[in-house]
This record gives sequence, C-alpha cells and structure tokens, in this order.
Amino acid sequence: VVERTLSIIKPDAVAKNVIGQIYARFEAAGLKVVAARMAHLSRVEAENFYAIHRERPFFKDLVEFMISGPVMIQVLEGENAIAKNRELMGATDPKKAEKGTIRADFAENIDANAVHGSDAPETAAVEIACFFPSLEVYSR
Ligand code: CMP
Repeated sequence: VVERTLSIIKPDAVAKNVIGQIYARFEAAGLKVVAARMAHLSRVEAENFYAIHRERPFFKDLVEFMISGPVMIQVLEGENAIAKNRELMGATDPKKAEKGTIRADFAENIDANAVHGSDAPETAAVEIACFFPSLEVYSR
C-alpha cells in the first residue's frame, strides 16, 4: 500500500552536511520526496511536535537538541513508506542500529540520532499535518 511518512533530518545531520546522502538513501529505496522544507524550529514547535513524549525524562534534552540548529523536514511517499523509512533509519539508539542504516552511519547518540520518522499511519498523518498543514492526507 502506498503511504506517506514524515521524515526529519535532525540538526546533527544537517550540520554534518549529509542531507544529500540521506536523500539518496530514500531515493534508492524507492521513497519519493513529495514535500520538503528547511526550518529552525522554535521551542513551541518542537514541544508540540514531540507532545506525546512530554512526560518522558528525555523530553527537555530532546527539545533542546531539536532547536539547536536547522532541520530538514520532508514527506516521503511510496510502498510501505513508514516501515521502509524506519528500516533505512535503523534503531533509535545508533549504538544498536544495524550496519548500513542512516543512524549507524551518521548518528552520534540517542539524542543526536540524525533522523526522525513516523512510526505508524496515525502518527504519520498527525506529523505531516503539523509541518505541512496544506497537504491533504487520506488514510487509505
Ligand atoms: P525520534 O524518532 O525523533 O523520537 C523521539 C526522540 O527522543 C528519539 O528519536 C530520540 O532521539 C530521543 N530519545 C532520547 N532518549 C530516548 C529514549 N530513551 N527512548 C526513545 N527516544 C529517546
């Protein structure tokens, strides 16, 4: 089934100048960038985006990190885009990420972990609407 997922290239990977290398991995896997914008998130934007993590102990550090520099935000579209993107990214903790994944290759630690990707169709729809409110999203 063709899906859309929200992807964020985080401040660490933008600072490393690997946006293009990460986009190449999306493309090689058959994922298409159908919307994209660069942004330096405000604290409120980062807090709202990660609202589901508000009570987690890592929330404050996560928000601080996400506003530490510009991010590249995109909607990826393709067959099983959500799972495919998560496969490309690897485990949240780069130390546990499989060889050849984005996080294994570009990430430093669990906060500076290079990329974010939606984890389910429901969260993908909410996350896409958060950054691309004009994109119509249909759950199929
Ligand atoms: P992300 O996929 O963007 O979603 C939430 C982020 O919180 C996650 O990637 C990590 O960068 C960060 N984080 C920090 N500590 C943890 C943790 N213990 N478990 C999950 N996510 C964490």
